[in-house]
Amino acid sequence: MADNSQQGGAVRSSHKHKKPIHCFDLPDSAFIPHQNHLLQNLLNRNFPDISTLSEQQQIALARLVPMLLCGEQSAMFVFHREAARLANKGEEECYKALMQIEADEFVHEQVLQKLQSLLPQPDDVDRIRKRSRLFYARIDRQSTSLASHFWQISQLDASVCLILSALNKAIHQHPISEIFSAIMRDEARHVAIARQHAQFLASDQIQCTAPSIHNQLVELLKTETASLHALDIDANALFQRITKLSITKPFITQLSTTKTYDREISP
Ligand SMILES: [Fe+2]
Ligand SMILES: [Fe+2]
Repeated sequence: MADNSQQGGAVRSSHKHKKPIHCFDLPDSAFIPHQNHLLQNLLNRNFPDISTLSEQQQIALARLVPMLLCGEQSAMFVFHREAARLANKGEEECYKALMQIEADEFVHEQVLQKLQSLLPQPDDVDRIRKRSRLFYARIDRQSTSLASHFWQISQLDASVCLILSALNKAIHQHPISEIFSAIMRDEARHVAIARQHAQFLASDQIQCTAPSIHNQLVELLKTETASLHALDIDANALFQRITKLSITKPFITQLSTTKTYDREISP
């Protein structure tokens, strides 16, 4: 996919007419909102000063954060819906684990929305939002079952960990990096829970397949290759790491037919 947003290396952006990124209709609140999440403390008290980022870093982040934000909103919607479905089914362990993820996604969304509001707004932010939304909506459409959907989500979260790790390293000396590292820690936990949930569901729906989302994610990220480079991130190495996940984690071979839910990762 060609990136038409940049001309001669300069990215157009402004601080005018800024609006929140809105990709999906969102639940009003989490079932059990966090009271003491690290990121919530940042939101309430000590949000990092972004003015010490270079202009180039701010512009690059302003183009990448909407992609992450759209993913957070998609995750809020999916985990809210699944937790609500399980609430009436007596699946206590799953329900608790999914509710905790849902609460995490709410905080992630809020903190990224706050960060986005402080960054300059790209003139083509709507185009970034639309192609991101298309990518996340496609995951839902391409899933052949609920089990495959949660497997895809586990793969997506693993890929997002790689992106967050790259962002964290790129600005590791700036307090903003704390946002990316805190979200990354949560997402690493989400990978395990989403995978277990896929296994849990697949014991009832063993005939499921899941197309790889990794290449599609790389295609989305390629539209912002220049932004990755502006942050001194080796874009090709990042794309390769993401693509490699699809080789190391094939869906069917990872599925267990044993219906279990690991209590250690439940809240
Ligand atoms: Fe998240
Ligand atoms: Fe997540």
